[in-house]
Amino acid sequence: MPSNTPIIAADKIPADLYPVIKSLCTVAVDVVKIIAKGPLGQSLGHEVGENSDGDGQKALDVLTDEMFAADLKNQNVRWYASEEQEEVVELNPQGTLALAIDPLDGSSNIDVNVSIGTIFSIYNAKDGANESFLRPANEQICGGYIIYGPQTGLMVTFGKGTQYYLLDPDTGTFVLIEDGVTVPADSNEFAINASNYRHWTKPVRAFIDDCVAGVEGPREKNFNMRWVGSLVAETHRILTRGGIFLYPSDARPGYEQGRLRMVYECAPMAFLIEQAGGQATDGSDPIMNHQAEKLHARTPLIFGTSGKVARVATYHDLPEEEVSALFGSRGLFRN
Ligand code: F6P
Repeated sequence: MPSNTPIIAADKIPADLYPVIKSLCTVAVDVVKIIAKGPLGQSLGHEVGENSDGDGQKALDVLTDEMFAADLKNQNVRWYASEEQEEVVELNPQGTLALAIDPLDGSSNIDVNVSIGTIFSIYNAKDGANESFLRPANEQICGGYIIYGPQTGLMVTFGKGTQYYLLDPDTGTFVLIEDGVTVPADSNEFAINASNYRHWTKPVRAFIDDCVAGVEGPREKNFNMRWVGSLVAETHRILTRGGIFLYPSDARPGYEQGRLRMVYECAPMAFLIEQAGGQATDGSDPIMNHQAEKLHARTPLIFGTSGKVARVATYHDLPEEEVSALFGSRGLFRN
């Protein structure tokens, strides 16, 4: 690569955000190398502790957090909120941006060579550390993820559509391959951790029952299920070929608000999906209108192809008799 070729072209990226995006891409290229080495390099998948929310922390979670924080310290980022750190950290007191990050999403997949990623969300910084992040998701000025899979890519939005850049391994640069990504309107795929079926609420069970019932059920159509266990990979699939993802609240202790974190997982994914013409809700209300009450707060997350997400909301509005009815007698959705 000629030494003056930037790691990512500047022309589609707002000038004030470009150095930060460049920094994220630069670190990502190093992360890719570490992931690719797997057990030939340092041990990545072993537990090294617990994060503030009680989730096991893997060596790669901690390492990537340190790598991103170290590089972003030299940028215009005042506040840094990471899944791996209990409190917001002040990186550059002169910075004007606040960046939230899940440095390594999908860490249960590190050891098994399945796609993982980094998720990030950017706001204009306020004076207070927490108030910079505890605000409506629709105040984000950027949201995105980097996927580390068979290909490495950056999916990003600055509020004017969703862009997809692919890392060219020959040049080490991120190349814009789609400007204006749209969630396909037609898909027969749904994604949910079905092992939690017994813990779900009745509307969620009814929605999934109707998918599983296929052509014999009220949807009169066969569906296919996918569950990777990396939010980045599920989002990437939905942005590529449509479908719906659900991580609802359920009856397990600690899952009253689902599993996923509002500030650095759900808000940026909702921003990307909405900018690509899809929808993201907590089952009824748009995630983009939500505001976390604390840094590591969770929220139920349902997103994907608009029509499908809207349909889940209608199940939440059904009267008890309809949701509890066997799918054969749930007449409302027959068309
Ligand atoms: O919180 C992170 C995460 O690993 C997501 O990437 C993924 O969607 C989800 O949790 C997987 O949840 P489960 O362990 O229920 O499969």
